[in-house]
Amino acid sequence: MRNNKTLTKQALQILSENLATAVILLNQDLQVVYANDSASELFALGPKRFIDQQFESLFNYHTIDVKRIISHTLIEGSDCHQHRADAVFLDSRHAKITLNSRRLMLENQPFILLECRALDDEIKHDKASHQMHQYMAARTLIRGLAHEIKNPLGGIRGAAQLLQYEVDQQERDECATLIIEQADRLTELVDRLLGPNQLPKKAWCNIHQTLESVVKLTTLSNQSNITLLKDYDPSIPDIFIDQGKIQQVVLNIVRNAQQALVDGGQITLQTRIRHHMRVHNKAMKNALLIKVSDNGPGIDKALRDTLFYPMVTNKEGGSGLGLAIAQTLIDQHDGYIECESWPGHTEFNIYLPFASTK
Ligand SMILES: Nc1ncnc2c1ncn2[C@@H]1O[C@H](COP(=O)(O)OP(=O)(O)OP(=O)(O)O)[C@@H](O)[C@H]1O
Ligand SMILES: [Mg+2]
Repeated sequence: MRNNKTLTKQALQILSENLATAVILLNQDLQVVYANDSASELFALGPKRFIDQQFESLFNYHTIDVKRIISHTLIEGSDCHQHRADAVFLDSRHAKITLNSRRLMLENQPFILLECRALDDEIKHDKASHQMHQYMAARTLIRGLAHEIKNPLGGIRGAAQLLQYEVDQQERDECATLIIEQADRLTELVDRLLGPNQLPKKAWCNIHQTLESVVKLTTLSNQSNITLLKDYDPSIPDIFIDQGKIQQVVLNIVRNAQQALVDGGQITLQTRIRHHMRVHNKAMKNALLIKVSDNGPGIDKALRDTLFYPMVTNKEGGSGLGLAIAQTLIDQHDGYIECESWPGHTEFNIYLPFASTK
């Protein structure tokens, strides 16, 4: 007990010196009164050069909102956060930093506690992993395409070879039919790859009627080991959509769920209204949410990051175009589609904006 106070002080010292985050304490004149080891490292300044320096003089250039830190943190006492500020330090190094500021009252004096974290490593890591995903997706796409094209080409070549020597008219007709069929298969593939080429033909529709036709088309009733639950919000008004295209999207997703539930399970179709949505720079005041969930095995981990890219599939004979097409169709409606999945659960959420007037 006797050493408790000194121990605590020492422990605190050790703690602050070992933080990976740079910590700086400023007085109300914005002079540095304390900086931990990580701050010394980040600013490349020894502790002696830090103390009593004006905050501004620690940089060659920065975009830190100092005015806000003074008004919000020092005067009002509120915490401030600034993401990705630019900082050029005295040795001309550049970094993107994230800052948190908080007012501390020490011995009745206000101080500003600043926590800074350089983001460069994180940004580099994000970029690298994004590049990797793009590369993987492009490779999958090329492999898938090559496979899809080679099969009909093989058929066409074989039939043409036979045609060369065949004298029997019936056999010749069969070869010609085969060539036409395989050429059509290739055309269909290219058309699907190019995506829907017609603009949506929108009209006011009842979304539940659309969903009901999906239910009929999926022949779920034939699969006795799959139960379908409907959880509709009956108060949802008509929505201005291309009914056929939204039906195709939901059908693709329900079919995927059906195919995933090899050992049986449950698919739930849910509708809701969501307000003030902001997803990926799209603001939707009122949105219709269509949620399709299942309790199957979950999306294969290897596919999750590139799920909506074309040719991403793990199915024998799958083209991997279902979700890529769904994404295009939802984009055409200014909507948004996302997927959340973990073992035992997969859900696809489709958000469609409501037009303001009918
Ligand atoms: N509900 C689900 N549960 C588990 N995996 C799923 C689910 N939905 C999609 N997937 C995975 O996502 C992949 C891509 O789906 P997508 O519909 O784009 O292509 P596909 O079903 O393989 O082929 P296609 O739809 O063109 O016949 C699927 O191969 C499957 O592995
Ligand atoms: Mg599919």
